[in-house]
Amino acid sequence: LERTYIMIKPNAVAERHVGDIIARIERTGLSIERMELAVLTEEQAEANYAEHVEKPFFRELVDFITSGPVVKMVVSGESAIKKMRTLMGATNPIDAAPGTIRGDFGLDVAANVIHGSDSPEAAEREIALFFGEE
Ligand code: GTP
Ligand code: MG
Repeated sequence: LERTYIMIKPNAVAERHVGDIIARIERTGLSIERMELAVLTEEQAEANYAEHVEKPFFRELVDFITSGPVVKMVVSGESAIKKMRTLMGATNPIDAAPGTIRGDFGLDVAANVIHGSDSPEAAEREIALFFGEE
């Protein structure tokens, strides 16, 4: 059993895609273990995107992700990380296949609808950061 951290980004919450995205996650057979609507603190956003601190879009990224409520989730099941990355589609919605969450709802690379951990290490770090557990 694997756990992954999933976050529905502010644009998708504002555009009322939450129910549709949750339905897609449940249809894969994965389980939602925890879920919470929250506005991220600046500190959480900066920590989450620490790997991008040198990128020109870092400030834009932090401002965007803190611009409104997000839906934070822990999703679990067999190969949860890979299954969720497949369901999400490519980072840039322009490259994301139709039928993927980003392909269907994504506007551009910043407002790309959803975040999902990309490794078991990232998943544990992000779950600890956003739900305060090991
Ligand atoms: P996450 O699941 O959000 O981590 O996406 P990812 O792993 O598919 O992409 P990556 O970690 O490389 O980038 C993190 C996030 O930075 C992406 O989800 C985008 O929202 C954002 N991002 C990437 N490139 C750009 C860019 O050129 N401009 C802006 N504004 N944001 C970008
Ligand atoms: Mg990433």
